[in-house]
Amino acid sequence: MDRILIRGGRPLHGTVYVRGAKNAALPLMAAALLSGEPCVLHNVPCLHDVFTMDKILSGMGMRIDFTGRSMTLDASGVGSQEAPYDLVRKMRASFFVLGPLLGRFGKARVSLPGGCAIGTRPVDIHLKGLEALGACITIEEGYVVAEGRLKGADIALDFPSVGATENLLMAACRAKGVTRLTNAAREPEIVDLAEFLNELGAQISGAGTDLITVVGVDALGGAEHAVIPDRIETGTFLLAGVATHGDVTVQNASAEHLTSFLQKLHETGVEIEIAGQRIRARATNGFKSVDITTQPFPGFPTDLQAQTMAMLCVAEGASVIRETVFENRFMQVAELARMGADIDLDGNAAIVRGVKSLSGAPVMASDLRASAALVLAGLVAEKGETAVARVYHIDRGYERIEERLSALGADIQRVRH
Ligand code: UD1
Repeated sequence: MDRILIRGGRPLHGTVYVRGAKNAALPLMAAALLSGEPCVLHNVPCLHDVFTMDKILSGMGMRIDFTGRSMTLDASGVGSQEAPYDLVRKMRASFFVLGPLLGRFGKARVSLPGGCAIGTRPVDIHLKGLEALGACITIEEGYVVAEGRLKGADIALDFPSVGATENLLMAACRAKGVTRLTNAAREPEIVDLAEFLNELGAQISGAGTDLITVVGVDALGGAEHAVIPDRIETGTFLLAGVATHGDVTVQNASAEHLTSFLQKLHETGVEIEIAGQRIRARATNGFKSVDITTQPFPGFPTDLQAQTMAMLCVAEGASVIRETVFENRFMQVAELARMGADIDLDGNAAIVRGVKSLSGAPVMASDLRASAALVLAGLVAEKGETAVARVYHIDRGYERIEERLSALGADIQRVRH
């Protein structure tokens, strides 16, 4: 298994180009199931999660060509409506195929994703919504078996779940009549999905607000679409620059997708410059503590909580970080403590008291964003070497992170075994 070795204490400088958003690309790929014609996606990131979705869709008979950063998906020959356990267990986002399969074929058999490191993450909101659209759902041998021709309905989500909003949006495109989703998630990835579906011929309005209306259509065609920039990657690189007292500019970024994050960064004393698709962050006079509460969009993103914690470990003063989206998303804390961080956990809150510096240590990645936090802590550590094990978690969501950090001046390398 690969490890990432880091000798920290070097300020990062320079410009890094952010890739397409993983969390936008995955539902867009699944959405191609709805169309009988080829679809082309540009700015697709080369990530393990994208390869897993490719395997699931190819297994159903979709023809996929992924060259450079462009992907052509042709679902005209799809003959199977099954997503197997072996692939779904690797990635919860595999569950996105359920909505489009039901919408287009009126049937689907998709493995339940099961638990994961950051909580039990049930799929009840997805299933309740699909049932409201008229699907008959049973659970058989760990699989969700769904059948039925869908009809538009008014659906109020119990929580603005990103995945459930996306699944229901895709299913409703081909339902008969009008669907209204209230308390819908408002994340930029949902807006991107709705735009793509509309390009395919769907009739969706209100994406980006908490009320989305979908007028069902009989068929969807092909389209060409570019994936939005990855806001979490953007935030991670900016934090790497700031935490090491460097000066990093992220290119191809979208500041309006990161408003609450940038606001909090600004509150710590970091200077932020935004010019078109460039965001530059510098901590010329150091940075101080700040309190953070994660929330669904447009609130502070849970996917940047762990990385921000890594920076706050060496801020001046004490910060309180509250995690309200996931139940068990402080997996990085024990490892950060081994690097010298001073953090107390109290239920869904972490009290982070800033220390002067961290020291390198062998650490273990537990999930995608927690592992990015450990890499950031390794870059900050002024003494010793940090060896991050279980790097496959990072590869799920960051494309060759060590090469890109190294180009910014980090002493970082991947060791293969
Ligand atoms: C998506 C993102 C993930 C991000 C999360 C929240 C993708 C591929 N992943 O995950 O990176 O951290 O949004 O921004 O886009 N819940 C239920 N029942 C459900 C569905 C969700 O209780 O049916 C709960 C979850 O357990 C969790 C919360 O709702 O506590 C938020 O989950 P959700 O918004 O659905 O996240 P995902 O779509 O899984």
